[in-house]
Amino acid sequence: LAPRDLEGMRIAISAGGTREPIDPVRYLGNRSSGRQGVALAAEAAVRGAEVTLVAANVAGDVLAEAQHPSIRILQAGTAAELGRVMADAAASADAVVMAAAVADYRPLEVADRKLTKDAGGIASIELVENEDIVAGLVRTRRDGQVVVGFAAETPGAEGDQDELLARARRKQKRKGVDLLVVNEVGWERGFEKGHNAVMMIGSDGDVVSTASGSKREVAAAVLDALRPLWTAIRN
Ligand code: C5P
Repeated sequence: LAPRDLEGMRIAISAGGTREPIDPVRYLGNRSSGRQGVALAAEAAVRGAEVTLVAANVAGDVLAEAQHPSIRILQAGTAAELGRVMADAAASADAVVMAAAVADYRPLEVADRKLTKDAGGIASIELVENEDIVAGLVRTRRDGQVVVGFAAETPGAEGDQDELLARARRKQKRKGVDLLVVNEVGWERGFEKGHNAVMMIGSDGDVVSTASGSKREVAAAVLDALRPLWTAIRN
């Protein structure tokens, strides 16, 4: 039986990947399935937390694993929507976990009709940068709130792990998160897969924990690392 060691924790978790519309039928997206974020939500709920799961384009069969009386599910399609919904959810949360893959850029203009080759085409799309949601959540966070980020990184040339770690540490610093969960991705690993291997970097840049296994097992390890950082916030 799982311990109810997160009883009283209110946690907001984003999952999935944003889609930035180009025209009514096309978007810029990524390969995040939402499985890791959904596993986090399910594990947190079983351990007694009150969960708000913000799903960005998560398929129904994946989302079904988040059916639990303590999980409230909200939807967000684009990075801008996700930013708004997460800011709302964070306002009443003790902990915030940004597991969603957010598009760094969005098309400057969204065509209101399908772009066609004969109407000038889509050979290039002008992009503008999206705001960094998790960095914003850190800036505006409530006293005592724990903020966790994720980073999907490909290793350096010839599988250079030191380079990957250095890059992850810079990311932790830049975003200001209390915990950065780093998973190595490549064509064969990470996204869309049932298993995951991660290392967690704390606020001083140290590797505080590593975990590998099913996404549910990784979720449990992330919550184990988060728990000691948590102090219940009133209201
Ligand atoms: O910089 P990178 O995209 O690798 O950072 C990943 C982390 O930052 C994830 O936690 C992701 O949810 C978050 N992120 C964000 N807003 C963005 C880009 C990434 O919150 N615009």
